Amino acid sequence: MSKNTQLHEESKKYTPGGVHTSIRNVDPFLVFTKGEGAYIYDADGKKYIDYQAAFGPFILGHNHSYVNGKVIEAIGRTDLYGVGCTDLEVELARKICKHVPSADQVLFCNSGSEATYHAIRLSRAITGRKKLIKFQGCYHGWHDYVARNMLSAWDMIGKRDPGSAGMMDEAIDNTLVCTYNDLDSVESTLQANKGEVAALIVEPVPHNIGCIMPLPGFLQGLRELCSAHGVILIFDEVITGFRHSIGGFQQVAGVTPDLTTMGKAMANGYPIAAIAGKREYMQRFNTQPGGDVWFAGTYNGHAVGTAASIATIEMMENEPVHEHIYRLGEKIRSGIRDIHSRLGIRAYVAGFGSVWTTYFMDFEPLNYSDLEKNDAGLYVNYRKKLIERGIFKMPMNIKRNHVSYSHTDADIDYTLEVIETVLKELV
Ligand SMILES: Cc1ncc(COP(=O)(O)O)c(C=O)c1O
Repeated sequence: MSKNTQLHEESKKYTPGGVHTSIRNVDPFLVFTKGEGAYIYDADGKKYIDYQAAFGPFILGHNHSYVNGKVIEAIGRTDLYGVGCTDLEVELARKICKHVPSADQVLFCNSGSEATYHAIRLSRAITGRKKLIKFQGCYHGWHDYVARNMLSAWDMIGKRDPGSAGMMDEAIDNTLVCTYNDLDSVESTLQANKGEVAALIVEPVPHNIGCIMPLPGFLQGLRELCSAHGVILIFDEVITGFRHSIGGFQQVAGVTPDLTTMGKAMANGYPIAAIAGKREYMQRFNTQPGGDVWFAGTYNGHAVGTAASIATIEMMENEPVHEHIYRLGEKIRSGIRDIHSRLGIRAYVAGFGSVWTTYFMDFEPLNYSDLEKNDAGLYVNYRKKLIERGIFKMPMNIKRNHVSYSHTDADIDYTLEVIETVLKELV
């Protein structure tokens, strides 16, 4: 029995499904024992070029020496106190407020789900309203406010589609679902719920369904509709934040939300997340004396996450991180397009900056419904064949790929060679 299989069997004994978050349980099931730069290694010692990047945190690469060094240095002298604040929290907060356009003030927590939960509760407190708007296909974490109409079955698009058993009906029904890139759907929902919508939450680029780009004017249109209707605009930049620029996608788009949630690439894989926004709103949190919106967490601001995040942002400030990942992102996208034209494959290579995916469909998708046209069987099979040959992408429909600062031109050239071989076999 291989070491992978042996550990998988054992993991299932102690843990439901053998994994510690949903959608990790995929075929092939691999047990990983080492990560280094652009590469990951399974328990049988097989090496992969990693493009899954643990769903996005690894903007610099696995086990990055500068980040690890800063974390080790920090935990050699400090950790967590549960009172007051730390020098690391001050330094990180200063950096985030300097770089992220919407961030007058910031608070730290431990996961993206916590950050979106706080942003929504704060919005309800500010507006005195209950309802929330989200978009079909977008993911904002596991809690009841947002866990509906995520990767819905095609016949459930836009319908009442809770993502979990056990959710509160009131939470499900107060979350309204619109179509991404369709301002009319947002405007009519706002009109039909006049004076009742507290917040609109959006992934500025919906990366949970690969890479759907906002049409020109869409994010600006959301900004205008939210301002006109007194609705708090939340950009969920848990994936796009720090990845698409040091100031997030809001900096790229030139659209400033009221509140922003961040996580993932903020700390290159270490656990920390953040909510930031307008000072007058942030001051409602009860970390501020007199604030009336509860904000707490035993581990908030722990030295591990704050030191890692400071180091990751320092790398972005001092080295050409974004230049490198944008260049390699463009290199792989154009290389794949060339392969498609050589082989006569009709597919759409989507992407932005360091993120990309190939949809097996012949037009640019603009929303979740369009993705029904993607050949899901081929999408997953293609990825499984790449994994067999040492290229790791999530073997699941409409998931995206990421390049990091550790990927090299040689990694991309090799990946393109393997892609061409696999596509020749498949199509
Ligand atoms: C856009 C977005 N928001 C929020 C979350 C939730 O973050 P976490 O898994 O850290 O709770 C995710 C996770 O993938 C995400 O992609």
